[in-house]
Amino acid sequence: SVILYNDSFLMREQGKVDMEDRGYQFGDGIYEALRVYNGKMFLLDLHMKRLERSARELRLDLPYDTPHLVDRLKTLIQKNEMNDGYVYFQVTRGAIARKHRFPEKKIDCVLTGSVEATPRDEDLHPDGIKVSLLDDIRWLRCDIKTLNLLGNVLANQEAYEKGADDAILHRGGIVTEGTTCNVFMVKDGTLITHLADHFILNGITRLFVLGLAEQLGIPVEERTFTTEELLNADEVFITSTGVRVCPVTKIDEHPVGDGRPGPVSQQLLDAFNRAIV
Ligand code: PDD
Repeated sequence: SVILYNDSFLMREQGKVDMEDRGYQFGDGIYEALRVYNGKMFLLDLHMKRLERSARELRLDLPYDTPHLVDRLKTLIQKNEMNDGYVYFQVTRGAIARKHRFPEKKIDCVLTGSVEATPRDEDLHPDGIKVSLLDDIRWLRCDIKTLNLLGNVLANQEAYEKGADDAILHRGGIVTEGTTCNVFMVKDGTLITHLADHFILNGITRLFVLGLAEQLGIPVEERTFTTEELLNADEVFITSTGVRVCPVTKIDEHPVGDGRPGPVSQQLLDAFNRAIV
């Protein structure tokens, strides 16, 4: 496949990272993952805004402006002749002798991007998924989409080893999000999800689903909720670029509601699917 490397297109095998790249050494960088439907990047502007915000929060200078980056990503998709799949790209602070603080002299950041073709139904789970409820041990700036994902990786692995598809994380009994997704619960017809503060990544899918809920007249509360509320919910679902809206039907050994995907999740997924045709 063809990849994007700074401002050039290379074959995948030619993409090499310096051993002193700060992304490699410190996880010092940011990323975005977008879904491509029919050759077009979905919710592109929101992803680019989030990237710019992540860069500002880490005081990382992007290599070029957003319109140019969008142009490069579009060309990347075309060069790979991809219709449905993902675009992933990341930017690190660059390569320089290892020292924690920022480089004193200006160095070039390193941008890499790639695509992965995936049929649009592959990530969907009609029967819902099983999750494991685990401690959120991550840092306190989960709102920044950084490469530093060890807290997510460890929880995702632990969930996998317990036979679950993902983990739902909580901080001292307050549900935050999943390891790769945001979490919603439904109680008495109201949609409840953690507010967008430093404890969660403000998912682009989360924002889109909140918009769909408004259009459909589903009441929404953005607030903290407890693991107890989660276990007593009528429905639980996760949202992400990959799964869109995915029902959670089991939390550890606990069935959610009647153990089947619920009507509100289905209604939102249907509305979502209508929006991407
Ligand atoms: N993950 N929360 C976390 C911790 C995430 O890693 C993600 C996305 C989300 C959902 O964000 P969005 O709706 O913008 O995809 C929430 C991506 C897909 C990943 O790391 O691959």
